[in-house]
Amino acid sequence: MSQFQLNGRPVTVDLDDDTPLLWVIRDTLKLTGTKFGCGIGMCGACTVHLNGRAIRSCITPVGAIAGQSITTIEGLDPNGRHPLQKAWIAAQAPQCGYCQSGQIMQAASLLKDFPNPSDADINAVMGGSLCRCMAYVRIRKAIKLAAADLQGATVHE
Ligand code: FES
Ligand code: FES
Repeated sequence: MSQFQLNGRPVTVDLDDDTPLLWVIRDTLKLTGTKFGCGIGMCGACTVHLNGRAIRSCITPVGAIAGQSITTIEGLDPNGRHPLQKAWIAAQAPQCGYCQSGQIMQAASLLKDFPNPSDADINAVMGGSLCRCMAYVRIRKAIKLAAADLQGATVHE
């Protein structure tokens, strides 16, 4: 039995403590925005926030997050209008889209540490978030658009 906060609401699940959080989110709690890619913490598709920081939910046992706060892509903004989500649309970042919720969650964590990220900052923090469609240029553009939006500035490319 594990209890934790999911997108601001308390949840209780009756599962083995070893159950990967990703499967709890997707299969038990039916939030399917978080994706399975590799299952070994190497691709970023399953990225969610634990207490506001990016983690890989595929390698996080549900027993390890008891009493803590998890945010998925569905909870990043109640209306789906987080500056990153708006920037993703403006930059037309996705191709197939499969990696993109993980990319956005990782980017949200990035912007907490680097409100005005350089290319090197983006490379360092986003490097583990893989995109098989190679949308990296548009993802970088979207991150910079969102950073500018958050700071009330304009991006000049
Ligand atoms: S599915 Fe978790 S990092 Fe790839
Ligand atoms: S948009 Fe297709 S995997 Fe990234």
